[in-house]
Amino acid sequence: MASFLTITLFILTSTFFITTNGIFYEELSEAIAMKRMEKSSHLHFFFHDIVSGKNATVVTIAGPPNVAFGTTMMIDDMLTEGPEPTSKLVGRAQGIYAMAAQYDVALLMVMNFAFVEGKYNGSSISLLGRNPVLDAVRDMPIVGGSGLFRFARGYALAHTIWYDPGTGDAIVEYNVSVLHY
Ligand SMILES: *[C@@H]1O[C@H](CO)[C@@H](O)[C@H](O)[C@H]1NC(C)=O
Ligand SMILES: *[C@@H]1O[C@H](CO)[C@@H](O)[C@H](O)[C@H]1NC(C)=O
Ligand SMILES: *[C@@H]1O[C@H](CO)[C@@H](O)[C@H](O)[C@H]1NC(C)=O
Repeated sequence: MASFLTITLFILTSTFFITTNGIFYEELSEAIAMKRMEKSSHLHFFFHDIVSGKNATVVTIAGPPNVAFGTTMMIDDMLTEGPEPTSKLVGRAQGIYAMAAQYDVALLMVMNFAFVEGKYNGSSISLLGRNPVLDAVRDMPIVGGSGLFRFARGYALAHTIWYDPGTGDAIVEYNVSVLHY
C-alpha cells in the first residue's frame, strides 16, 4: 500500500514536472469552436510596381547576365485603395519575384501584403504563386497570414490595368479572398 502511494505520488509529481517544463505538442479540443468563428474576407487594392526612376520600388538582386530567366527582384510596392498612385495607401507588397519560366513569361511570386490601414493595420497576408504576367487575370494562392489574418488561406486574382513597356512600370488590380479566424 505504501509503495503504491509512493508510486502514485511519483507519477503525479513527474507529470507535473514534465508539463511545467514545456509542451512539445498538444491537440486542441477548441477546433470545432474555431471552425464556427472562421471568417471570409475580401480585399481590393492596387499594386504599384515602379521599376524605373528615382522613386523605384523594385531592385534587381540576382540573376544571370543577359538572360531573363533567373532574374530576381526585391520589391516594396505601394498598395492603394484606388488605381491612382496618389490614392490612399492601404499597405505595401514586400517580397520577391523572379523569372521562373524558361519558355514563357511567368514569375514566381513570394510576397507579403503588409496592411497599414483601418482594422487590418499591422496584419499581413502571404502570397506564394505562379504569375503568368501576360494573362489577363492571374490566380495565385494565399498561403497564410498574421494578426487578423492568422490561419489565412485563399486566393488572389491579379489584373494589370496599366503597363509602360518602355520602363516596365505597372499598376495591377488585386482581389484577394481569404478564409481566416
Ligand atoms: C517621386 O516622389 C516624389 C514624392 O512623392 C514626387 O514628388 C516625384 O514627382 C516623384 N518622382 C518621380 C520621378 O516619379
Ligand atoms: C497603424 O499602426 C501604427 C502602429 O501601431 C500606427 O503608428 C499608425 O498610426 C496606424 N495607422 C493607421 C492609419 O491607423
Ligand atoms: C475585382 O473585383 C471587382 C469588383 O467585383 C471587379 O470589378 C474586378 O474586375 C475584379 N478584378 C479582378 C482582377 O478580379
